[in-house]
Amino acid sequence: MRIPVSATLPAIMCLLAGLIYAPPTFALGRAPSPAECKTKPSNPVIQGGCLVINKRLGNCVACHVIAGTSMDGNVGPALHDVQHMVSSKQVLFEQIWDPEKRAPNTAMPPFGKNRILTRQQITKIVDFLWTI
Ligand code: HEC
Repeated sequence: MRIPVSATLPAIMCLLAGLIYAPPTFALGRAPSPAECKTKPSNPVIQGGCLVINKRLGNCVACHVIAGTSMDGNVGPALHDVQHMVSSKQVLFEQIWDPEKRAPNTAMPPFGKNRILTRQQITKIVDFLWTI
């Protein structure tokens, strides 16, 4: 069957226009920039990324390399392809809540146990890390 050009052309034009005028979306796979975080993003996954770079809260980048930041902390392992580093989101949550359970002498702070971060904040960080 032949589709008439008159029908396909407008469709292609719309598609191209959509591509050109698509609103900027957050590219997961990297940490958000401080400027993005200043806009107070409503997406909880981006909020998780903002906690990771926040110097007063997670500050994970002080010790971990995470794509998208200029920080290059190397106290702990670089965090990328996190889904292959840990076996589940639950294990990742536990690592952030209380890494001392797994490694009693770790340099990583027990963010949940010591109330540096709330359960809700750690969940957001886990969801963000699951994208990188
Ligand atoms: C003071 C340094 C420090 C900070 C801050 C820190 N970490 Fe860590 N992290 C480490 C070290 C060291 C390890 C290596 C394993 C261990 O000792 O537990 C580690 C291990 C990990 C692992 C496990 C990697 C694996 O191979 O299983 C994850 C995930 C992780 N950190 C996430 C985070 C997140 C998320 C934050 C921020 C909320 C954070 N870390 C903040 C030092 C730190």
